[in-house]
Amino acid sequence: MHDTHEREDHAYRLIQLAEGFGPARAVQLTAELGVADLLAGGPRGVADLAAAVPANSDALYRLLRTLASIEVFVEVEPGWFGLAPMGERLRADHPQSLRSWVIFQGLLNTIYANAADSIRTGDATTANVFGEPLFQHLRNHPEHRALFNAAMAEQSRVTGEALAGYYDFSRARQIVDVGGGAGTFLSAVLRANPELTAVIYDQPYLADDAERQVTAAGLADRCAFMAGDFLETVPAGADLYLMKGILHNWSDEHARAILANCRRAMDAHGRLLLVDWVVPTGNAPHPSKFLDLAMLFVYGGRERTEAEHAWLLAEAGLRLARVVGPPSMLNVLEVVPV
Ligand SMILES: C[S@@+](CC[C@H](N)C(=O)[O-])C[C@H]1O[C@@H](n2cnc3c(N)ncnc32)[C@H](O)[C@@H]1O
Repeated sequence: MHDTHEREDHAYRLIQLAEGFGPARAVQLTAELGVADLLAGGPRGVADLAAAVPANSDALYRLLRTLASIEVFVEVEPGWFGLAPMGERLRADHPQSLRSWVIFQGLLNTIYANAADSIRTGDATTANVFGEPLFQHLRNHPEHRALFNAAMAEQSRVTGEALAGYYDFSRARQIVDVGGGAGTFLSAVLRANPELTAVIYDQPYLADDAERQVTAAGLADRCAFMAGDFLETVPAGADLYLMKGILHNWSDEHARAILANCRRAMDAHGRLLLVDWVVPTGNAPHPSKFLDLAMLFVYGGRERTEAEHAWLLAEAGLRLARVVGPPSMLNVLEVVPV
């Protein structure tokens, strides 16, 4: 009897794993259709909502019922749906919105669908799907670029304030955020450290987004944008270099080149902070493990263990001094010259 239950349990768990795309796609569809924005004023009946989307009323009901079962929406009375706290984050105008992040995940579906390529070759699948590597694709496709940049900014807004508090920035005077995007994470650091000045270093097409973001944060007098290619060079002159979510986008070979450019820019007392995932050793579940697959499929990059970070840093003349930060999410790795 016991054996039968166990066998069934394994079968159901496997079926659930294989159907994991269902919840992901349901949330993505809701974000794409802008359903949460239509509920900003409070719960609405499905027919009324379907007319506003516009959508088929029965299909929309089934989508909302499904998402009410996993705490994205609440069915306040039969056929009337409102936003649960997770659903609020799907609103475009929520101060901690993740709508672009969720829609960006949807953009990756075709890459995931073809990812057997990555397992066979050890390289990204993106070039086979989009015809070019992701960052090149973003350079050539303004709509996807805007989505990617908005997604990164949202993710950084959510993680920024928590992580900014995990490191004592008070010893630094000047920061360069290498691959800083629109500077959302950097802004959280600058707000918490009024003495600091900073440069966002990223590709030229991020100049406008960065300027807008920094001005809106009231930090225009302390934060400038510099365009450049971190595979070629990193600007000198700062006492603290920051790289958040950069190294995991790149293979060891490219990551080593980026780190070597950081090392060349740093003086003997300079420090480098890597804000990245650290894959724990052993087989316990950890978000970094699925992200590692995402990095492989999408970029040909990887998440790294502490030992792998240390090895890569040593190759570039740098040393991992310590790892700080919450163990269940992104970590802050403090790095110094050898
Ligand atoms: C995953 S995003 C992280 C952005 C930001 N650090 C954050 O955490 O929100 C990677 C960033 O690297 C930038 N990037 C990619 N290739 C680059 C290159 N060759 N030189 C400079 N920046 C680059 C992208 O434009 C993008 O802003």
